Amino acid sequence: MINDIDLSAWTKVGEGGFGTTYINEKEPNIILKISHNSDGQIVDMSNEFYASRAVYELGVPTPEMIEMVRVGGGIGIKSEQIKNKKSLARMCGDNPADIDRLAARVAELVKQLHKIDASGKEWLPSNKAIMLEALAKTKILRGKKLNEVMAFVEGLDDSPKLLHGDLSLGNLIFSLPEEKPYWIDLGRAAHGVPMFDIGHLYLFCNIFSKQKRVHELTHMSEEQIVQFWNSFALAYNGSDGLEAFTTECKRFAALDVVLITYTHPVNWHQRLFLGLLAKSMFK
Ligand SMILES: Nc1ncnc2c1ncn2[C@@H]1O[C@H](COP(=O)(O)OP(=O)(O)O)[C@@H](O)[C@H]1O
Ligand SMILES: [Mg+2]
Repeated sequence: MINDIDLSAWTKVGEGGFGTTYINEKEPNIILKISHNSDGQIVDMSNEFYASRAVYELGVPTPEMIEMVRVGGGIGIKSEQIKNKKSLARMCGDNPADIDRLAARVAELVKQLHKIDASGKEWLPSNKAIMLEALAKTKILRGKKLNEVMAFVEGLDDSPKLLHGDLSLGNLIFSLPEEKPYWIDLGRAAHGVPMFDIGHLYLFCNIFSKQKRVHELTHMSEEQIVQFWNSFALAYNGSDGLEAFTTECKRFAALDVVLITYTHPVNWHQRLFLGLLAKSMFK
């Protein structure tokens, strides 16, 4: 059974890309997350609940999912509230001198995440399969380029390794002062080759980092976000073959662009921009 809740008893504490988080002093260990669509309606987040719970069950450091609740026509999520938390983005923005150290730490955490086998979890679908569906329907690539991208994805291993699905600087929080990490925002968690996550992070750090909206969300400047990426790439890959690694990151970033137009509504203007972007990155 899914209980109804009255949002007026809750206090807003945070905002992410689409989600808003609330707390309530009567339930001090809980955080409530709801999400709005572009029309302002509260959406059904049950998929995020089940995917996040599956990730938790695999032993990943992530808040425990407690229950789904009905809020104004949608489904919100109650989860374990992480106390004294600060997001990776906020930590970098508050203390830019710490960016290189944090990037190296995150590289290790990402590697640990990608060691986990997610096979057999129905809520953690194949990212390769999703990608092929997105390519079959895409309006941003066509002809020879589309065939080339499709052949690339078909040639990928359908790896059982866990993927975060939205690896970015706002989706890792640390509980202070121990700096205990927790992965959050796992609604798109899946399984597949780790480069899907790395390509998504590349896109966030090197392309979307130019957007004012991202500076507001992360409290970081474009230069700081790019610095984070450069340190991350070095720690993740090592200095050998960094150029080839970057080329590979861009290919997966191009795939991520196709995925964005599949999962989010985009207008013709955005479609044009994203099409050119995908083409320029897939070399
Ligand atoms: N379990 C939690 N405990 C404490 N804070 C949280 C928790 N989950 C999310 N938050 C806070 O809410 C913000 C938005 O959450 P997130 O799940 O990333 O939403 P969105 O989908 O909007 O990006 C995070 O940056 C974080 O500060
Ligand atoms: Mg988020």
